Amino acid sequence: MTTARRIDGKAKAEQLAESITGQTASLLKKHGITPGLAVVIIGEDPASKVYVRNKKRRAEACGFYSVQHTLPANVSQPEVLKLLDDLNHDNAIHGILVQLPLPGHLDEQAITQSISPSKDVDGFHFINIGKLTAGHTADAFVPCTPAGCMLMIEDELGPDLSGLNAVIIGRSNIVGKPMASLLMQRNATITVAHSRTRDLPGVVRNSDIVVAAVGRPNMVKADWVKPGAVIIDVGINRIEETIDGESRSRLTGDVDYDAVCAVAGAITPVPGGVGPMTITMLMFNTLRSARLSAGLED
Ligand code: GUN
Repeated sequence: MTTARRIDGKAKAEQLAESITGQTASLLKKHGITPGLAVVIIGEDPASKVYVRNKKRRAEACGFYSVQHTLPANVSQPEVLKLLDDLNHDNAIHGILVQLPLPGHLDEQAITQSISPSKDVDGFHFINIGKLTAGHTADAFVPCTPAGCMLMIEDELGPDLSGLNAVIIGRSNIVGKPMASLLMQRNATITVAHSRTRDLPGVVRNSDIVVAAVGRPNMVKADWVKPGAVIIDVGINRIEETIDGESRSRLTGDVDYDAVCAVAGAITPVPGGVGPMTITMLMFNTLRSARLSAGLED
């Protein structure tokens, strides 16, 4: 029985972060610019708090100027828009991120679209989505999770995915749709599967690349997987388990990891796979934005 290679997203993210830290120091030395990242968190979602704390830590470790705006769950839409307008005009800030999900009374679309496309390091603005969809990736901010997934896929399979079938499970704006654009640009033949897809196991069985982004613990089973396939698990699900009579919570992905390891060629673990890469790609986008603001790229 073979065992899949474990794709070490944490190690790859560390390596990339080191390079970003070096480039940040050189940007300051040569041009007097420090990349600035503003993260806005609204309300008390516990998972969001953890993600935002990790983003701030990583930004500081890279040598960025990092600010966090913590707004109460009942903040009004105009107050949020006013803050974003201020950040859009703040020359010390090159990247703005509003952590999702937002409390129900806020208009997510109006908020994400009010961030200047040139500071939209999440890649959620329609201008950036349009550029990515049209294949102008060099000119767009690419959403962080799909960008990180692509780097790991490229490590395994090289830059050209001609002749390979890829399935993306999940059609979200944050992961599924941009992932489809990126894989298509690399010549993969793509299927975007979702809750209405017929015979998902059959679709997965035909795929050389599987990107699972649905948020359903251990959904992708070993007998769905084509031998040798590359499996990217975007899911981060907290599940409760009882071990020796004690209830514990742990993180698990959308893929039945242990069983799939026996069939796949390579697989990302959860935690330690896609998550760290996502955060590092945010730093990559912020550094790029700072460089662009100084006329240094593109
Ligand atoms: N919530 C979950 N993932 C993301 C992300 O990539 N960006 C933002 N802003 N919020 C998120």
